[in-house]
This record gives sequence, C-alpha cells and structure tokens, in this order.
Amino acid sequence: MHADSTPPSIAVITVDGPSGSGKGTISQALAGELGWHHLDSGSLYRLLAYAALQESLDLTDEAALTALAERLSHDYRLPTQDNPVIELYGKDVSDALRTEGCADAASRVAALPAVRAALLAWQRHYRQSPGLVADGRDMGTVVFPDAVLKLYLTARPDVRAERRYKQLINKGFQADLASLIKEVEARDARDSGRKASPLKPAATALVVDNSDLGEAETLQQVLDAAHAVL
Ligand code: DC
Repeated sequence: MHADSTPPSIAVITVDGPSGSGKGTISQALAGELGWHHLDSGSLYRLLAYAALQESLDLTDEAALTALAERLSHDYRLPTQDNPVIELYGKDVSDALRTEGCADAASRVAALPAVRAALLAWQRHYRQSPGLVADGRDMGTVVFPDAVLKLYLTARPDVRAERRYKQLINKGFQADLASLIKEVEARDARDSGRKASPLKPAATALVVDNSDLGEAETLQQVLDAAHAVL
C-alpha cells in the first residue's frame, strides 16, 4: 500500500519508431511474452484516415476530422485474442487499413494537433492491468511519458522499404521497391518534421537500430531491456 493510498499505476512499455522498423511485430511479441495488452496506435490513425476517405472529407479539415474522431470512438474494435481483426461499424477493415493510400492519409491526419488531442483519450484507455506495450510515434514522448521503459526501434530507410515490399507482396498486393523507398522517406519527413508530437526518441529511450539484426535478435534485446526494469 502506498502511503497516500494511491494505487500504483499500471506499467507501460513504449515502442516508438518509423514505419518498417519492426515495432509492430516486436511489440506484439513482447506483449505476448509478458502476458500484457498491446496497443498499435498507428491503427487508430489509420482507422480515422480510412473513415475520412470513405466520407470524402478534406484531409486538412481539422474540425471535421476531430468531429469524426469523436464519433468513431464508439464504432471501432481493435484486435483481441478472440477476434484478431480491426472492425469499423462491425465490418473487418484490417486489410483496407494496410494499403499505402491509407498509410499516406493517416500520416496527413496525424499531423493535425486537434486530431492528435482527440486520440489521446482513446490511447490511454488501453492502459489496463497487468500492463501495456504501446507502439507508435509518440508513445514515450507524449501519450505515456511515465512508461517504465521507452524503446525506439529504427533501421535504414532502404531496409525498411524492403521489409514493407515483402509484406505487401506476401499479402498479394502489387508493390514497387523504388517508389516504396520514396514513400517511406516522404512519410518519415512528414512524421519527424511536424510540429505536433513529431517522431523522435524520448530523452531516456533505448535506441535499437535493427538494420542488420533478425527479428529474434531484436526481440531478445528488447526482452533483456524489459527484464532489467521489471
Ligand atoms: O505505424 P503506422 O504506420 O500504422 O502509422 C500510420 C501513421 O500514423 C504514420 O504515418 C504516423 C501516424 N502515427 C502517429 O502520428 N502517431 C502514432 N502514435 C502512431 C501513428
């Protein structure tokens, strides 16, 4: 019992980094190893972007996008163990959210400060016992600044574009490596250059460059870091 009777807060590990850094796969595996919940915050930005595209909203209309975010907060489901898909209005939109068009739109809506503010409460709601692994761009810097461990995964842009290329081809989508490299660089520039919560490592983040590491090696480094603080 704490002297002031405040319950100890639920532990969070944050995993930030650019697209293709492997943060989604690694966070999910880390959450599995720890028996914790996992939040893929990018899917929330993708959901909002997808819904905005469906409604033909102007992707710079901050007020309309924020109003849409308020409405959507009741109409989506993130994956659970029983139902491993993302749903919007009861429909499985998992594949639709992974397209490059949706990723590009997500990066645009994510640059708007009021949109980011509207999504803060959605994200914090996933902090549930026994713990949360949250991945995104600003998990350690803005959303969960009191995280017990802050990780920042990264890799060279060409390596990240190639990973994305393989993912898309494996899912049966068409892809062109040269344009993927350009898209990765453009999205990096937008995510890192925006004023609202730019992509950057938290001051205390452990930075893991996994350009030349396999998934198992990256996971081991991350697990070692987690066990050192838990
Ligand atoms: O991680 P992802 O590729 O699914 O994210 C899609 C876009 O959402 C990405 O370009 C930046 C944005 N995003 C963000 O700004 N902040 C987050 N915490 C997560 C994603």
